[in-house]
Amino acid sequence: MIFKKRTHTCGELRATDVGKTVTLNGWVDRRRDLGGLIFIDLRDRYGKTQIVFSPQHNLEAYQIAKELKSEYVISVTGKVERRPKGAENPSLPTGEIDVLVDEVQILSKSENPPFLIEDDINVSEELRLKYRYLDLRRPSMQANFLIRHKMAQIVRKYFDENNFLEIETSFLVKSTPEGARDFLVPSRIHPGKFYALPQSPQLYKQILMVAGFDRYFQIVKCFRDEDLRADRQPEFTQIDVEMSFVTEEDVFNIVEGLMVRLFKEIKNIEIPTPFPRIPYTEAIQTYGTDKPDLRFDLKIVNVTDIFKGTEFKVFREAIENGNLICGLNLQGCGNYSRKQIDEITTLAKNYGAGGLIHFKVENGELESPVAKYMSKFSLQKLKQQMNSKDGDLIILISDKPEKIYSILGNIRLELGRKLNLIDEDDFKLAWIVDFPLLEWDDEENRWVSVHHPFTAPKIEDIELLDVDPGKVRARAYDLVLNGNEIAGGSIRIHDAELQQKIFKLLGISEEEAKRKFGFLIEAFKYGAPPHGGIAFGFDRLVMLFTGMKSIRDVIAFPKTSSAISLMDEAPSEVDPKQLEELHIQIKRED
Ligand code: AMO
Repeated sequence: MIFKKRTHTCGELRATDVGKTVTLNGWVDRRRDLGGLIFIDLRDRYGKTQIVFSPQHNLEAYQIAKELKSEYVISVTGKVERRPKGAENPSLPTGEIDVLVDEVQILSKSENPPFLIEDDINVSEELRLKYRYLDLRRPSMQANFLIRHKMAQIVRKYFDENNFLEIETSFLVKSTPEGARDFLVPSRIHPGKFYALPQSPQLYKQILMVAGFDRYFQIVKCFRDEDLRADRQPEFTQIDVEMSFVTEEDVFNIVEGLMVRLFKEIKNIEIPTPFPRIPYTEAIQTYGTDKPDLRFDLKIVNVTDIFKGTEFKVFREAIENGNLICGLNLQGCGNYSRKQIDEITTLAKNYGAGGLIHFKVENGELESPVAKYMSKFSLQKLKQQMNSKDGDLIILISDKPEKIYSILGNIRLELGRKLNLIDEDDFKLAWIVDFPLLEWDDEENRWVSVHHPFTAPKIEDIELLDVDPGKVRARAYDLVLNGNEIAGGSIRIHDAELQQKIFKLLGISEEEAKRKFGFLIEAFKYGAPPHGGIAFGFDRLVMLFTGMKSIRDVIAFPKTSSAISLMDEAPSEVDPKQLEELHIQIKRED
């Protein structure tokens, strides 16, 4: 098809272009027939321009315009005119002008789309994903991908300026131990053998350090067969980083520099550095999670001491049975009605609490159905420890140490939202440090790595490996933004002996280690530099920068929560011949 190519985009023309003859190519956004004239908003990714068809001006073009429907792709040529006084549209950058059409050509027709191509649509996500090309045509989605693109460019430029090399690692690899299930790819050439899609390039970037590349980064797809959530996809993108001859501080500096740059260039926000560092245990005990939302205060307070030996039997016995008593001070909620307090109690129970005790602070005193069981001294101490004042509402729960913080952490988050304590325009970053190196897995009856088996223990804790492995802290760190884990990494073990010791603790035999990651152990025999690194969840980062609630809104072709791509219907059955070539036989479960 021969067609007239655009001279301008649909977002480009201004009053200064009045009088020019221009050609625009784009999609019919909306058509209005008004008093013998036809007005069309023509749309492309740059914006919208109003084009006008007049029977007096050009009858042929006008006749064609009558046939035009939403989402037809057309080419128009005409003259840029200033809109009459009062007809300007200040909300459109092109709103001062329109184009009076001399010539129109239909480049492609469209069926009636299943939803309107505009930002505020009220349709299911399933429909949006099935017709993803239409969904992506919506201006707000296009804006998300523009930001994603800009962020990727800033990342590349930043790392390049800092001497990092972008090196691609393979997608058909040996399975890497990141804790999730692998996606496997059968080998046609080697019957019965499989490649794994990388859960991350972890081992390969470490090998690049052994190879002497010193500073590596990659914007890379990773694949994990795990349960999906709003912030998890089976394939997602990492900004993966590794550095040689470094300690934690060097990694923090590079990452903080990147975050400062991204916030400045994308959002024009100055982010203060260094970011706060919160030890893991403190994060859990204060916010109930290792990814705290620091945009609001509302800290968990442990008041177990106050209730030791109290006459209030429920709490006394709970403490005797190893429970803790912890709570939150809800500022300004002292006037809550019975019903509102019941709602909070229900919320607490939904998160697993057995019940909830509350105290209202009035005239300097604590009012509560249980106050009569407590001494004046204990009540004052509670008031003080909870940092409460008149008009506040204290809520307390009792539970086992391993449960109580996460219950209160969930209540904290939900009440933070309900009580409007969260400023959506605020961005609060923090490093979570001093993670435990290992955790006990009851099911497998062995220690497992909290991060991955190549994470170095803190030097001062190495001696504990033999006596109290659970107490050993890792040289690992997570970067948290507004309650989301956006990056995680560690300083690695580069000493073969220490690595063997960790494998042993993890119950990985020498033979198994050799089979699974023998190539890394082998590489370490030939001069491994001390090294460490980090990986960002790029989709999560873009989600937070664009203000979206799900990473699906910043991934062009995401999967549903049941791991299906609704547009192309992957995964799908394959030709029996393909299976045969791969030496695979399907065992039907029905
Ligand atoms: P980790 O497993 O913590 O570390 O992953 C790094 C970051 O990737 C993001 N992320 C995900 N994003 C979307 N969907 C998923 N399924 C998903 N899983 C993880 C998170 C996370 O912080 N090799 C190590 C890094 C290192 O040690 O250098 C690793 O992959 O934002």
